[in-house]
Amino acid sequence: MTLATSARSIDRATCEALDAADPLARFRDRFALPDGVVYLDGNSLGALPASTPAHVARVIAEEWGVGLIRSWNDAGWFDKPRALGDRIAPLIGAAPGEVVLGDSTSASLFQVAVAAARLRPGRRVIVSEAGNFPTDLYVLEAVQELLGEGAPLERRLISDAGPTLDDVLDDDVAVVVLTQVDYRTGRMLDLADVTRRVHEAGALMVWDLCHSVGAVPVDLNAADADFAIGCTYKYLNGGPGSPSFIWAAERHHDAARPAITGWHGHARPFEFGIGYEPADGITRFRVGTPQLLALAGLESSLDLWDEVDLAELREKSLRLTELFISLVDARLARWNVEVVTPRTSARRGSQVALRAEHGYPVMQALIARGVIGDFRAPDLMRFGFAPLYVSHADVWDAVDVLEHVLATEAWRDPGYARRGAVT
Ligand SMILES: Cc1ncc(COP(=O)(O)O)c(C=O)c1O
Repeated sequence: MTLATSARSIDRATCEALDAADPLARFRDRFALPDGVVYLDGNSLGALPASTPAHVARVIAEEWGVGLIRSWNDAGWFDKPRALGDRIAPLIGAAPGEVVLGDSTSASLFQVAVAAARLRPGRRVIVSEAGNFPTDLYVLEAVQELLGEGAPLERRLISDAGPTLDDVLDDDVAVVVLTQVDYRTGRMLDLADVTRRVHEAGALMVWDLCHSVGAVPVDLNAADADFAIGCTYKYLNGGPGSPSFIWAAERHHDAARPAITGWHGHARPFEFGIGYEPADGITRFRVGTPQLLALAGLESSLDLWDEVDLAELREKSLRLTELFISLVDARLARWNVEVVTPRTSARRGSQVALRAEHGYPVMQALIARGVIGDFRAPDLMRFGFAPLYVSHADVWDAVDVLEHVLATEAWRDPGYARRGAVT
């Protein structure tokens, strides 16, 4: 019997039994989650690994406090963006030496999108998706202006309602920039299939993996992709503001000319020459002094990721999202709560979005009761299922509280309608 067919008969004890058999359950205690909280927002900001406070405190007290400037060499500070990149590589199907830590995801996208477009001179179109995370579209506008000669490069946006990718691909397209797992709906694109179609048109493929890395297994090299960027503060649990990563396929390293040519991407930064010469390999995508305290948080969380089997991660992620969808279907139908996330598992990342009238106050009422998700305008409640610390019993409890909030109309409390700067 699948979870879908048995949802009506599932009770909390069933979920506890699933937890008892869960090979990833041992990771839960490696996170410092507050008591009484069901945390379903790891797709926005990952939870705090229990080891991180001591690790960051040690970096501050010893590497900074005692080592002082010597830590650039003695504690490996200078190479840290490359060293941590090599530890992210196995999570995204990259080879050692292909990944480096950068700045914000937005800045890193600028770095690689410019490099990619310059590898296709003469082509005047950048393709993306209307529903892409807006920062991607905003950054691409800057790329269009920077690289267009006379007039900005043209932008073509695909969407579910059309045009499709195949509609817009032709031999004028330089670069396609897509987010693999949609930040609102959790819909997942087939990395290899999309990349192949883009290459058939002679264009290059840039992937935004913000909602993929640490959520689903990714294999960039098997897909033959060109460039990728992604957040480390979501499923990777690097901490608020931990830097993004940049991946460039090795075949592009020598020819790539990133947007920002800073001294940490120079071939010989400590010769202090007056002309820019790109470093070999992925290092040329570096810009300036890395955010070492933020990298310390990421370094600590990567200790956990070194131990994770990505096949087990995906299996649990799908179990959690399927359980959530089944329980929502079985218990919330009378309030017209609509699951907008694809029900086909191959098309789903590790989050589920629900469309509901009054979604914003409903989410605030949930948060007030310890079930933390978030809301994306105009009408979506998002629930992220980070398999390292979300349990099947959490899923049960979340739907139980949601049903209670809807049945009692607790969300009507005027306090829940007040909007913060961040939703
Ligand atoms: C798909 C996607 N891309 C980019 C970003 C923005 O990243 P940053 O704020 O690190 O620049 C986000 C943030 O949530 C995102 O979801």
